Amino acid sequence: MCGIIGYTGRRPAGPIVIDGLKRLEYRGYDSAGIALLDGDHELYVARSVGKLDRLDAHVEGTLPPAVAGIGHTRWATHGEPSDANAHPHLDPSGRVAIIHNGIVENFETLRARFTDRGATFLSATDSEVIAHIVAEQLEASGDLVEALRLTTLQLEGAHAIVAVATDEPGRLVAARVGNAGGVVVGFGDGESFIASDLAALLPNTRRVAFLDPGEIADVRADGVAFIDGEGRAIEKAVKTQPYDPVAAVKGRYKHFMLKEIYEQPETALDAVRGRYLPDLARVSLGDEFPFDAERVRRIRRVILIAMGTSMHAAMVGRHYIERLARIPAEIDNAAEFRYRQPVIDDETLVVSVAQSGETVDTLWAMEEARAAGCPQLTVCNTPGAQSTRVADGTLLMRAGPEIAVASTKTMLGSMIALHALALHLGRVRGTLDEAVEAEQVAAALRAPAAIGQALLLEPRIAQLASRYAQREDFLFLGRGLSLPVALEGALKLKEVSYIHAEGYPAGEMKHGPIALIDENVPTVALALDDGLRDKMRSNIEQLKARRGPVIAIVSAGDHSLDGVADDVIELPPIDPLLSPLVSVLPMQLLAYHIAVERGADVDQPRNLAKTVTVE
Ligand code: F6R
Repeated sequence: MCGIIGYTGRRPAGPIVIDGLKRLEYRGYDSAGIALLDGDHELYVARSVGKLDRLDAHVEGTLPPAVAGIGHTRWATHGEPSDANAHPHLDPSGRVAIIHNGIVENFETLRARFTDRGATFLSATDSEVIAHIVAEQLEASGDLVEALRLTTLQLEGAHAIVAVATDEPGRLVAARVGNAGGVVVGFGDGESFIASDLAALLPNTRRVAFLDPGEIADVRADGVAFIDGEGRAIEKAVKTQPYDPVAAVKGRYKHFMLKEIYEQPETALDAVRGRYLPDLARVSLGDEFPFDAERVRRIRRVILIAMGTSMHAAMVGRHYIERLARIPAEIDNAAEFRYRQPVIDDETLVVSVAQSGETVDTLWAMEEARAAGCPQLTVCNTPGAQSTRVADGTLLMRAGPEIAVASTKTMLGSMIALHALALHLGRVRGTLDEAVEAEQVAAALRAPAAIGQALLLEPRIAQLASRYAQREDFLFLGRGLSLPVALEGALKLKEVSYIHAEGYPAGEMKHGPIALIDENVPTVALALDDGLRDKMRSNIEQLKARRGPVIAIVSAGDHSLDGVADDVIELPPIDPLLSPLVSVLPMQLLAYHIAVERGADVDQPRNLAKTVTVE
């Protein structure tokens, strides 16, 4: 969750660290802090509760010309957001400073060891004890790398840690323990970087290496050495990453969320490009799909695992795999999957969906699947992320950087990747009719235009948003392929506007949730012409009989709910199987505009973080 950045090199470290934090703020914004080292072994530390602009104002004009520095944006786990709980944390002598992402599960026992000797702790965090242990180990070994390595052996849980010491001002040491989020090392010209996310490094360097769990990086301006958990030197491949400077700025949009909603026609184009072949009327996954035909025929079922919005995309994918490939498919919340001793084996294809590729719940579930010998694919938006290294193959979402904390375009990229995967599996197993594949390929190639048309609904949705912005409860209903969209509508609204919203299968409504309905509780009902519309119509009638306002989302040209629902939003034409690609847009736009009406912080909603690296 927390964002981590470090720099050592020929330029003043302070502004580079602060700039890196700006690119990481979406990971957590409860507090921020930096520690800078100058060549005279002095440590400069600044910390501020709240968003980064508070720290920025606090340090203005005071930054020393440091040779190295570390910075941290916090998403609080242990200890409320406060200056004292902000990272970096120091040992009592001020010799060592650390930043940390993860949870020290045995921190109370570790702390007691020091408090029993009379040490005092200045924060309520689980992280501060790491600085004490590193300092203790540094005293014993005289070497910061060895000190951090020995420290990690004492910590329970999963961690990413960067440590600096005043003894060696130009040196940063970073460790990754378990699946607590990524650690990426950047190689510059006479300078080196360390960060939790690639995005923080790309403006400075595109040459990077990712730490695997258990690895440590010894980072100096003129080079980086890597060791494994046993202290043995290892070689890491340096990769050159693509960088799109335009994708990371808001441009003419007021918020990243709106910009990313508007980028979806392009996301769809990128997601179909090269995968859907119009001349051959088929899909081609190329290197993205690592299994041969024999292996594919041995698959007896598919389990899709993910969290949050990615799980809603996976739910759509489940329909695709069952309908197009005719393989039994299930969807599981990754955090539940891990702990329920799933019955899986090498005939179970596990497909994870994760925009970050670093979500700890999803990574642990993938480890579970790996231990059971399952073939694995991941749908991911971040090349090189940990999920791509665990899976046998990766289908990229191709959505470009997603900065708003609430996901939009990555869900779209995931749904298209899963549609292509289902077509591929169906063809290889001989369960997909050629004509159906041709029809689906043509429909997917028309989807970017339909998504563009769906954006034209924005003014209408903005009007609805201003009408309903002050309501305190919302219901979202759907059936079949529209159920994941309804769940996503409710999630988006909760996340960005803080309105209580529930997403339900429409058939379930009368089994309880209908008790919520009165004239103050609006329902968004996805009633598309997909064979289930008449059932949805009955559900809408039931809501109206209880005076509940209804916004119906319907297929192009469908007027059957005019006069029944209070408002009817007509989607552009699209193949019924691909309808979630367009029906999700009104959900996103409604949540966005209601949040704006309520004055909420759209891009950085309270309590959330973009990459969830703690359980
Ligand atoms: C919602 C949202 C989250 C993420 C979830 C999984 O807008 O962004 O629900 O979808 O935390 O994240 P990834 O996809 O990175 O595994």
